Amino acid sequence: MSNRTFTMIKPDAFADGHTGSILKQIEAAGFKLIAMKLTRLSAEKAGEFYAIHKERPFYGELVEFMSSGPIVAAILEKDNAVADFRTLIGATNPAQAADGTIRKLYAKSVGENAIHGSDSDENAAIEGNFFFSAFERI
Ligand code: RTP
Ligand code: MG
Repeated sequence: MSNRTFTMIKPDAFADGHTGSILKQIEAAGFKLIAMKLTRLSAEKAGEFYAIHKERPFYGELVEFMSSGPIVAAILEKDNAVADFRTLIGATNPAQAADGTIRKLYAKSVGENAIHGSDSDENAAIEGNFFFSAFERI
């Protein structure tokens, strides 16, 4: 069990002005910010980030969406960070997300689902390193 995870507020939630509310909910759930940046992914970078899904039918749409506008990337710290953050954000498909979860509150569809959360300790480290140098984290 690791104490860090990685998240992105996706282009839909950023464009709809939900960044502040989502960060407030994340902090209220006990996660501490270790690194954070407002940036935008090129299609190439979005494709690299989600390379694990390259063979999936939704890959093209996913890359297009994730490079369609600004995102907020962050490394978060808490005991049991990966699993607890997945609980906080809810199911990939907002129709199946539990009440009160970030996706239930802000996601529009399975494709435009407001927020990313790492799915393992290993991927949390890889994803954090993808966005942040040692100098950019506390
Ligand atoms: P994420 O990686 O973004 O946190 O999402 P996740 O683990 O809950 O879901 P994952 O299976 O990793 O899928 C990555 C993202 O691809 C989009 N997706 N679209 N149209 C579809 O059937 C479909 N399935 C997945 C979603 O944006 C999902 O978050
Ligand atoms: Mg995933």
